[in-house]
Amino acid sequence: MAFNASSIPFPSSDAWSGFVAEAQKFLPQSNSRLALLAFVNIPVFAIVINVLRQLILPRDRSLPPEVFHWIPIIGSAPSYGNDPIAFLADAQKKYGNVFTFVMLGRKMTVALGSAGNNFILGGKVANLSAEEAYTPLTTPVFGKDVVYDVPNEVLMEQKKFIKVGLSTENFRSYVGMIEDEVSEYMAHDPSFRTFQMNDINEWGEFDPLKVLAEMTILTATRTLQGKEVRSNMDKTFSKLFSDLDGGFTPLHMIFPNLPLESYRKRDAAQKKLSEFYISIINGRRDNTSTNDETDMIAALMNQHYRSGRALPDHEIAHIMIALLMAGQHTSSTTGAWTILHIASRPDIADALYQEQVEKFSNPDGTLRSPTYDELKTLTVLDAVIRETLRLHPPIHSIMRKVRADFPVPPTLAAPSKDGVYVVPKGHFVLASPAVSQRDPTLWHECDAWEPARWNDADGEAQKAFKQYADENGEKVDFGFGAVSKGTESPYQPFGAGRHRCIGEQFAYLQLGTLITTMVRKIEMRLPAGMPGPNYHTMITMPKTPRTITYRRRNFD
Ligand code: HEM
Ligand SMILES: *[C@@H]1O[C@H](CO)[C@@H](O)[C@H](O)[C@H]1NC(C)=O
Ligand SMILES: *[C@@H]1O[C@H](CO)[C@@H](O)[C@H](O)[C@H]1NC(C)=O
Repeated sequence: MAFNASSIPFPSSDAWSGFVAEAQKFLPQSNSRLALLAFVNIPVFAIVINVLRQLILPRDRSLPPEVFHWIPIIGSAPSYGNDPIAFLADAQKKYGNVFTFVMLGRKMTVALGSAGNNFILGGKVANLSAEEAYTPLTTPVFGKDVVYDVPNEVLMEQKKFIKVGLSTENFRSYVGMIEDEVSEYMAHDPSFRTFQMNDINEWGEFDPLKVLAEMTILTATRTLQGKEVRSNMDKTFSKLFSDLDGGFTPLHMIFPNLPLESYRKRDAAQKKLSEFYISIINGRRDNTSTNDETDMIAALMNQHYRSGRALPDHEIAHIMIALLMAGQHTSSTTGAWTILHIASRPDIADALYQEQVEKFSNPDGTLRSPTYDELKTLTVLDAVIRETLRLHPPIHSIMRKVRADFPVPPTLAAPSKDGVYVVPKGHFVLASPAVSQRDPTLWHECDAWEPARWNDADGEAQKAFKQYADENGEKVDFGFGAVSKGTESPYQPFGAGRHRCIGEQFAYLQLGTLITTMVRKIEMRLPAGMPGPNYHTMITMPKTPRTITYRRRNFD
């Protein structure tokens, strides 16, 4: 099946420079002397006041230390925006695990380390609100009445509905579908032209971010989203997704409504996509002949709130959009980072390939497909994905808004002589498991991608993982089924607590099948070495150059 790759959403836009460019449009165009004077002098005055305030004025001792910054309102936004991990780790050295920084008029109080993760991700609904932090970004994109447009207890029920669709039974039907999509893609997409030529000596090249973004949306639509969405991928759907995605950037989080093109496109695409999903739901309802789909729409169409109310069509539609957004860039960038690391380490690529050969060889030397249950027993594959998520968790900052004064436990930050710190109502709090996941005091060679660390039963990685996922460990039910507590682990790529990701198993299934299907077919190299991270998009992506070279394996 021919597939028009150029129409596929592909997050190349640099949201931060977009932000600067768009912000400049708002600066006054007038060149009158007065305007110029005001523009030059007010900032200087404001900077002086701001600096004096920080250096001289007595501070409220109950507040955590504040990161020094020159420009009021803007505060630390540029350093945080350019490299949040370096900014946070640097501030941690100066101020300890708990500190506040100013970002575009907001006070962001950070809590780092395992205790910091626990403080924020284990925080109570009475004190912390995810919806107030995220709704300006997510509600225009997902639509009304779902996720962060509803009170927390409703979100917990909606997560329970979604979990019905993420069943082991459904997953068993997905492995073959994902394999099929990846194989089709590699057989037809121009990125794999030399693979298609069938010559094992011919090297070709591809952009892993582009290829993984396309493979991710094709496989997610084929499986979770359902056949109607998949069959519209090369028509209207991918354009709508791309418009919607253009409204999911840091700029849109800070300014939810500006009179700009990206906002208009976002709103039009949300409306059209919502109507598209509702038409699918109606189509299925009218068709009494079958309802044996193993996808999310089928699962959501049968759900009722505790009150007895059925999940309305528009909520199903908006949940489907939310899942599309939640799963797309997280999985595709994780896939891209994984493939990049594999390409840069032929020894690990060999180990992955050997694992496939050992477990899935047919008598004639070809490889058979794994089942879902077999996929979960592949230790090399597992270690490769876990290690990639340790170094490149797609979400670097997890935020909440403080609704009620939130005292910092003395074990997390030593109290001042006037008592414990209190994070006041109105602040945002920020957790960054990305920082604890490469904390040099916890991780041996913390910045090195070394999947082997996950094989050491007594090593730091297994210890952190047991704390995160231990089947025998402490479980909590927030309303969507029992989940591991996990809030105190230094390893939390899927978050923890009541907002913990429910897409984790699907992500492992999707990524695992995608990666092994590729590794079975091609050998890869990374001539330019590992690219650095780009933090200007919502999700941490590999910068350019990131070209991977590849050639066909002897058989597939
Ligand atoms: C590698 C892939 C993924 C990563 C690293 C990831 C990461 C995360 C993180 C860190 C959170 C917590 C956010 C917070 O506490 O503010 C989260 C929540 C969530 N994720 Fe994922 N995710 C991934 C894939 C998926 C997929 C495939 C889906 C859907 C099928 C999904 C659906 C959700 C949902 C519904 C939530 C709950 C939000 C809440 O309760 O507030 N995620 N994810
Ligand atoms: C009803 O469902 C069957 C099986 O999925 C499908 O083949 C058929 O085309 C559908 N009919 C309509 C009118 O959508
Ligand atoms: C949460 O907020 C309440 C006030 O609503 C406060 O009394 C309590 O100490 C806070 N809880 C925690 C764990 O900080």
